[in-house]
Amino acid sequence: MRKRVFLKITAVAVLALGTSLAMAQDNLFKIGLILPMSGPFASTGKQIEAAVRLYMAQNGDTVAGKKVELILKDDTSAPDVTKRIAQELVVNDKVNVLAGFGLTPLALATAPIATQSKTPLVVMAAATSSITQASPFIVRTSFTLPQAAVGIADWAPRNGIKKVVTLVSDYGPGIDAEKFFKERFTFNGGQVSDSLRVPLRNPDFAPFLQKVRDDKPDALFVFVPSGAGAALMKQFSERGMDKAGIRLIGTGDVTDDDILNNMGDVALGVVTSHHYSASHNSPLNKKFVDAFGKANNGLRPNFMAVGGYDGMRVIYEAAKATKGGRGEALLNAMKGQIFESPRGPVFIDAQTRDVVHNIYIRKVERVNGQLWNQEFDTIKDVKDPGKAR
Ligand code: PHB
Repeated sequence: MRKRVFLKITAVAVLALGTSLAMAQDNLFKIGLILPMSGPFASTGKQIEAAVRLYMAQNGDTVAGKKVELILKDDTSAPDVTKRIAQELVVNDKVNVLAGFGLTPLALATAPIATQSKTPLVVMAAATSSITQASPFIVRTSFTLPQAAVGIADWAPRNGIKKVVTLVSDYGPGIDAEKFFKERFTFNGGQVSDSLRVPLRNPDFAPFLQKVRDDKPDALFVFVPSGAGAALMKQFSERGMDKAGIRLIGTGDVTDDDILNNMGDVALGVVTSHHYSASHNSPLNKKFVDAFGKANNGLRPNFMAVGGYDGMRVIYEAAKATKGGRGEALLNAMKGQIFESPRGPVFIDAQTRDVVHNIYIRKVERVNGQLWNQEFDTIKDVKDPGKAR
């Protein structure tokens, strides 16, 4: 008799514990944030983590009455690791959303997990055009290389640059940049005399730059991923390319705000096209740059940080609209969002799930002793040209 009562009480207690655990789960909105926090692309991880934490500090850690739980994981920029972590976050942690993705191969490796588990996946960094086509659950808040490359391909021939050599990192975004720059520049009457590709990891630019010097184009068009621009710029200067009258142009990845200020005079006058500069002239951006710096020892936010910050905005608003939902409902609430970002106006195209934003033409200038990408022209509301074919 006693034993039976004991068993009954235990059963009730276990049941109650189970229910309260389930309720605790239900009262959480979980974000699985996967970033390269170590290795050669750790600057991307650091920038995005800082931006995500800033967004949460400014907007609170509850949405629709649920506590937001951020689970940050380091994938060391290895695609098999990204995929395994994503699987664990979906199966064990039951996250509402996956986010981050510092490089194209990391996003592509994880796309099948999003599709199979119907988990929305917010790409905050990777920028190859085709990524959003790899899963109907992918939404992007970073940018695409075709978006960025066509801006400078329009600007260059109108500014005395007729012959160009392209130099890109040999993987998705580099190949997009090369292709879309070349197509538009040639259409505009320019000539691409050579197209060089360097390895993504540990590139030695010297032999490529020597080749460019011999070829004497008006300009070298460059795409290297965020973080790699300093090495390229240093070797560009050491080889005397600027002295030989070869200009440097590119997408804004090469004059990344994270490292621009330490590049020195060689960066002065470099013209690039991109969706974000830390010197973007708007009250919202000034507030963002200021708060970001205050929270991170004076660090300047780069375009990766903005992709992370806006990604959190898209997630929070979708979570609010669905009362902390998941799956297709959460995904649908991300589509079509329109808002003002530190970069300017942003629209998440409901058809493509890709970001639509302004592309700015910028020139590196010294202002109050610091180097900045100074925006001087705007191409409004640019959709990814990679989707129009
Ligand atoms: C990418 O791998 O998609 C990527 C990484 C860094 C960039 C741009 C694109 O600056």
